[in-house]
Amino acid sequence: MDPLLALLCLLPLFPGLAAATRSCPQNVNISGGTFTLSHGWAPGSVLIYSCPVGRYPSPKSRLCKSNGRWQTPGTYWQTKASCKSVRCPGPVSFDNGVYSPRLASHPVGSNLSFECEDGFTLRGSPVRQCRPNGIWDGETAVCDNGGGHCPNPGTSVGAVRTGSRFGFGDKVSYRCSSNLVLTGSAERECLATGDWSGTEPICRQPYSYDFPEDVAPALGASLSHMLVATNPNQQKKGNVGRKIQIQRSGYLNLYLLLDASQSVAEKSFKDFKDSACSMVDRIFSFEINVSVAIITFASKPKVILSVLSDNSRDVSEVMSILENANYKDHENGTGTNIYEALNSVYFMMNNQMQRLGMNTMAWTEIRHAIILLTDGKSNMGGSPKRAVDDIKEILNINQKRNDYLDIYAIGVGKVDVDWKELNELGSKKDGERHAFILQDTEALLHVFEHMLDVSKLTDNICGVGNMSVNASDQERTPWHVTIKPKGQETCRGALISDQWVLTAAHCFRNVEDISLWRVIVGDPNSQWGKDFRIEEVVTSPGFDVFAKKKQGILEFYGDDIALLKLAQKVKMSTHARPICLPCTEGANLALRRPQGSTCRDHERKLLDTLSVPAHFVALNGSALNINLKLGSEREDCIKVVSQHKTMFPNLTSVGDVVTDQFLCSGMGKDDNPCRGESGGAVFLERKYRFFQVGLVSWGLYSPCVSADKNFRQRAPQGMVPPPRDFHINLFRLQPWLRQHLQDVLKFLPP
Ligand SMILES: *[C@@H]1O[C@H](CO)[C@@H](O)[C@H](O)[C@H]1NC(C)=O
Ligand SMILES: *[C@@H]1O[C@H](CO)[C@@H](O)[C@H](O)[C@H]1NC(C)=O
Ligand SMILES: *[C@@H]1O[C@H](CO)[C@@H](O)[C@H](O)[C@H]1NC(C)=O
Ligand SMILES: *[C@@H]1O[C@H](CO)[C@@H](O)[C@H](O)[C@H]1NC(C)=O
Ligand SMILES: *[C@@H]1O[C@H](CO)[C@@H](O)[C@H](O)[C@H]1NC(C)=O
Ligand SMILES: *[C@@H]1O[C@H](CO)[C@@H](O)[C@H](O)[C@H]1NC(C)=O
Ligand SMILES: *[C@@H]1O[C@H](CO)[C@@H](O)[C@H](O)[C@H]1NC(C)=O
Ligand SMILES: *[C@@H]1O[C@H](CO)[C@@H](O)[C@H](O)[C@H]1NC(C)=O
Repeated sequence: MDPLLALLCLLPLFPGLAAATRSCPQNVNISGGTFTLSHGWAPGSVLIYSCPVGRYPSPKSRLCKSNGRWQTPGTYWQTKASCKSVRCPGPVSFDNGVYSPRLASHPVGSNLSFECEDGFTLRGSPVRQCRPNGIWDGETAVCDNGGGHCPNPGTSVGAVRTGSRFGFGDKVSYRCSSNLVLTGSAERECLATGDWSGTEPICRQPYSYDFPEDVAPALGASLSHMLVATNPNQQKKGNVGRKIQIQRSGYLNLYLLLDASQSVAEKSFKDFKDSACSMVDRIFSFEINVSVAIITFASKPKVILSVLSDNSRDVSEVMSILENANYKDHENGTGTNIYEALNSVYFMMNNQMQRLGMNTMAWTEIRHAIILLTDGKSNMGGSPKRAVDDIKEILNINQKRNDYLDIYAIGVGKVDVDWKELNELGSKKDGERHAFILQDTEALLHVFEHMLDVSKLTDNICGVGNMSVNASDQERTPWHVTIKPKGQETCRGALISDQWVLTAAHCFRNVEDISLWRVIVGDPNSQWGKDFRIEEVVTSPGFDVFAKKKQGILEFYGDDIALLKLAQKVKMSTHARPICLPCTEGANLALRRPQGSTCRDHERKLLDTLSVPAHFVALNGSALNINLKLGSEREDCIKVVSQHKTMFPNLTSVGDVVTDQFLCSGMGKDDNPCRGESGGAVFLERKYRFFQVGLVSWGLYSPCVSADKNFRQRAPQGMVPPPRDFHINLFRLQPWLRQHLQDVLKFLPP
C-alpha cells in the first residue's frame, strides 16, 4: 500500500488527532493593530491583540476552540476587532472646590485643573494630565481645611465617596462610577495615629495597565522598607510603627509564585524566571537574612524550593533552582489555580511555625513577602481570597503586625489579567501599592531591575553605588572624594568607612600645614558636596620617592599609600558611602562568601583572571575602564618600563621599579589616569557591589594635556615607552592596613 494512503486510513481511528488538526480561520485581523498566537492556528491557541500606545484593542483576545472556531470573551458573536482610543475618566464629584473641564471622559494628553474655595488648601496636584494608559498623572487633588483628626481622604477621579466625617474611628467608603474598576481599599477608617487605614482607592478603566517606570518606584519603596528596617539605629518617626521590622538579625521569607498555566507561553514563563532571578540577586546583595521559596503553579502548585530548606538562604542555590524550574511540569493540568498556589504557601508557613514554635521570637519576627506573577485570573480552585485570609490568620496579621506580610500581585500580559482580583489579593497599606498590571514580560524585567531603592539605606553598608542610567556620577561612585591642599595640585581618595579615606602617600610629600587641607565628600560641584578637615594623616613609613636614586631609579613609588582620618564622621547618603575593602567582614558579606573565608579567598575571587576589568574615576567624575593584568600578562604589561631611559637609566631589573606591590594596566584600549587622579580607588564590581582592589599611584603617560576636564588625549601609536599605569595592590599592603584600621574595620584571617 502507498504509505500515504495507509496514514489516511489510520486517521479516523484516532479521533483526538483528527480534531486536533482542525485549525481556526485566519480572518481575525485587527485594524490599526497586530496580534500574536500562542500555538499557531491550532485549537487551544490564544490570540492576543495589541494596539499602539494610547489605543487599546477590543476585544483583547480570542481562544481557538477544539471545534475550529474562535471564542471571544464577553461576546457571543464574532466581532470585528479594532483599536479604540484610550480615555481617562472624569471626576464624579469634588468637594470644596471646582474643576474643569467637566467631561465624562478625557482624551490622552488633555489636562484637568482643580481649584479650592476660600478657606481650603489644595493638597495633591492642581493640574493633572491624561496619560496614554488611561491614568491621570500626579496625585488626587483634595481641598482640606485641616479640621479632622485625619486629613480629608479626598475622592479620586471617577470615584464616589460616602462619609464626610474625618474623626477618629470614622469610616468612609468608595465605589467607582460606570464600568470603572476599583483598586485599593473600598473602605477606610480614620485611625488613632491620624492616618487612614488601607490604601487610596483608584478607579481604573478595565483596559488600563501600568508603565514600568511607575511600578518600579512603588515596588521599590515598599521593599525598601525592609532594608531601611535593617538599621537598628534609625530614628523613629511618626508612623514608623508600620515600617521598621527587620533587624540585621531578623529574617525575611520571600515566596515567589510563578504562573505556568497554558495561557503563559513558555517564553513568558522563562521571562518570569529571569525577572525573578534578577530580583533575587538584588535582594541578596543587601546582607539581610532572607529565605526564598519558589512555587510554580497551573492547575496544581509545585513547590520547587521551600523556606524550610537550607538552600533557600543560599543565593546561588536559589538562582540555579529557579533557572531549572520547568514549564513542562504543568503540562497535564494547565488551568490557573491561584488558591492552591497560595495555599501551598500557607502550608509552608504552618510547617515552619510548628518547627520553630508558635510563640517564639524566631517565628514571630519573620517578615513575609509574597510575590505572585501571573498572566491571568484564576479559573479553578475557587476564590484565592480564602487562602489570603488563612495566611493572615496564621501570621496573626492585625493593625500592629501589618508589616509582617506584604503580598504583591503582579499581573503580566494583555489577556486575562483582572484588576479586581489582583486588587483583592494585594496588600493594602497607606501610601503603598501592591497590585500592578504590566503589559508584557519585558516590562516586568525592567521593573525588577530597577526595583530596589537604597536611597534610604542609612547605615554604613559598603560598596553600594546607584547603577541606574540616570544616576549622577557621584551617585554611581559615592565613595569617591577629592583631596584639596590649598592652592596646589589635588589628589583623589576613597571613603572606606564613615571617617577614614584611603589615598596615595605621594600626595602628602611636601605638606607643611595639614590644617589647610580639605577632603570634599560628595559631588564637589553640587549642593551634596561637603568639606571635611583632616584630623590625622598616616603615611606608610616605607614610602620614599628617592629610596632607589642610587640605583638609577629617579622616582620610586613603593608603599605609596596613606590613610586620612576626617575631623568628623560623614553622614551616609546616596552621595557618600564607603567602598568595600577586600579582606574585611563587610566585603565578605557583599561578596556573599561564607563565614570563615580568608583574605586569600577574596584575592582569588576578585582578581580571578589574567585580565580583570576594573575602573577608576576621572577628574570630571566619570568612571573610566581599565584591565588589570595578572600572571603572565602582568609580565608583558610591566616590561616596557625599562624603555623609559630618562626616568630609569641603568635599569637592570624591571622588578626593582615595579615591585609586586603594583597592579599594572594601560594596555590596549585602556584609559590612563591623569596626575590629579592619583590616590583614587581602582575598583571592580561583583554581584552589584563595588570593591577597591588598588589605588592609582603612577604611570608612564598622562592623557590630560589641556585644562578641559572632559578631554583626554590618547597616547600616539608607537609611543616609546607605551602608556602603562601602576596601582598599589591592596592585597600586598594588608599588614599595614590591618595595623592602622583594626579598630575601624573587622578583618578576615590572611
Ligand atoms: C490580514 O493582514 C495581513 C497583513 O496585514 C494580510 O496579509 C492578510 O491578507 C489579512 N488577512 C485578512 C483575512 O484580511
Ligand atoms: C497640559 O499642561 C501641560 C503643562 O502643564 C502643557 O504642556 C500641555 O500643553 C497641556 N495640554 C493641553 C492639551 O492643554
Ligand atoms: C542572620 O541571622 C543570624 C541569627 O539568626 C545572625 O547571627 C546573623 O548575623 C544574621 N545575618 C545577617 C546577614 O543578617
Ligand atoms: C503527563 O501525562 C503523561 C501521560 O500520562 C505522562 O507520561 C507525563 O509524565 C505527565 N507529565 C507530568 C509532568 O506529570
Ligand atoms: C532616564 O531619563 C530619561 C529622560 O529623563 C527617561 O526617559 C528614562 O526613562 C530614564 N530611565 C530610567 C531607567 O529611569
Ligand atoms: C538612582 O538614581 C536615580 C536617578 O537619580 C534615582 O531615581 C533612583 O532613585 C536612584 N536609585 C537608588 C537605588 O538610589
Ligand atoms: C649609569 O651608568 C653609567 C655608566 O655605567 C654611569 O656613568 C651613570 O652615572 C649611571 N647613572 C646613574 C643615574 O646611576
Ligand atoms: C569625562 O571625561 C571623559 C574623558 O576624560 C569623557 O569620556 C566623558 O564623557 C566625560 N564625562 C562627562 C560627563 O562629560
